Amino acid sequence: MKVNVRYSNNDKPTQEELNSMEQKSIKALQTLRQGSGEGNDFLGWIDLPKEISLQDFDKMQSVADRVRQNSEIFVVAGIGGSYLGARMVIEALKHNFDTLLHRDYPTIVYAGNTMNEDYLAELMEVLDQKDYSLAVISKSGTTTETAVTFRILRQHLVNKYGKQEASQRIIAITDKEKGVLKNIADKEGYSTFVIPDNVGGRYSVLTPVGLIPIAVAGFDIKALVEGAKQEREKILFADNKDNEAIKYVVARNILYNKGKSIEILVNYQPNLVYLSEWWKQLYGESEGKDNKGLFPASVSYTTDLHSMGQYIQEGRRLMFESVLHIKNSNKHLKIPKLEENDDKLDYLLDFSLTDINHKAEEGTRLAHLEGEVSQITFELETINEKSIGEIIYFFELCCGVSGYVLGVNPFNQPGVENYKKKMFKLLGKE
Ligand code: PA5
Repeated sequence: MKVNVRYSNNDKPTQEELNSMEQKSIKALQTLRQGSGEGNDFLGWIDLPKEISLQDFDKMQSVADRVRQNSEIFVVAGIGGSYLGARMVIEALKHNFDTLLHRDYPTIVYAGNTMNEDYLAELMEVLDQKDYSLAVISKSGTTTETAVTFRILRQHLVNKYGKQEASQRIIAITDKEKGVLKNIADKEGYSTFVIPDNVGGRYSVLTPVGLIPIAVAGFDIKALVEGAKQEREKILFADNKDNEAIKYVVARNILYNKGKSIEILVNYQPNLVYLSEWWKQLYGESEGKDNKGLFPASVSYTTDLHSMGQYIQEGRRLMFESVLHIKNSNKHLKIPKLEENDDKLDYLLDFSLTDINHKAEEGTRLAHLEGEVSQITFELETINEKSIGEIIYFFELCCGVSGYVLGVNPFNQPGVENYKKKMFKLLGKE
């Protein structure tokens, strides 16, 4: 991952501001590495990429292979950090129209992340007709959305396959000893995987939480983890301003201190929409506390240039953009030469669609800089397992470091409890 920062005229920092933020960020990186900051009991993700053993990979892959053989659908039931990482990777890597193609591997569907009755009822209408397996993913084992969904689908599986086969079609991913899900899994004999104590939900994509669904979807989990491992080597130990992670942390905190309140993650390709959803959860839940933090938002260009683009160009000056620049597409198309230039598009004949997309990106950058929207760009060669692994580690590390620069604990989420308490009271839960 390479980072480029372009400040708009009004946002340009002085050399002093830059130096001071660089020093603060390097110190925060050291604090994180030494485990001497707040939330230091949740730092297991830092070394995860180098700690996953071949046996761990084999165990996850063999459960995934079983699902690939006996299921047309794989339901991933989890919410927040218990599903967004898997979904982000799968959406980024899969064929954009894969559900419309004839395939011999399971379609991944997501549940347990909403209370919507229609959604689950309609999913069950489909599951009535298809062979399926289910991963129930919850670190606490008690999250209501996931637990209610699991109760309903567990019953559905038992009715469909009988108790014994149902148990073989359920994979539980949860705490090593606590919570009702762990108790049920032990009692029923489900295949069970552990979410390490020291890894919080939104930092858990490289545990079985993310890796099992990704393996079931047919992607190379070793290459994904290898990408994260290589990124770790690059950015975890480099205590200097040229560290790409430090560049990002410095820029976003300088812009925050200059009064920007919104960071917009921008992609130029539809398969990265869930990367933005994962990133929003990671940064929103990690930094938004003590009345502080950038509000993480996202857009997909060029689609959203025809909707949100107007606001970003000329509305209230609240935001800066962080843009995912992917150099190469995985597929290639040529614009055809016609007999007649009746659509007046011959001026594009020398360009690929990716070239045109990149020109749109460049044009947007110039226009938005003119409109006082500073630009951070993340450069990646292409989208594949390895580069997604790099992105994961990069954003996770920057999030921890940036949280420390901001002066918050980036590893808790006390604010999430409030709605739960109020909901439970309304529901009469003891
Ligand atoms: O990042 C987090 O910790 C949260 O988003 C959790 O992942 C989410 O609330 C789900 O929690 P659990 O896995 O306990 O069901």
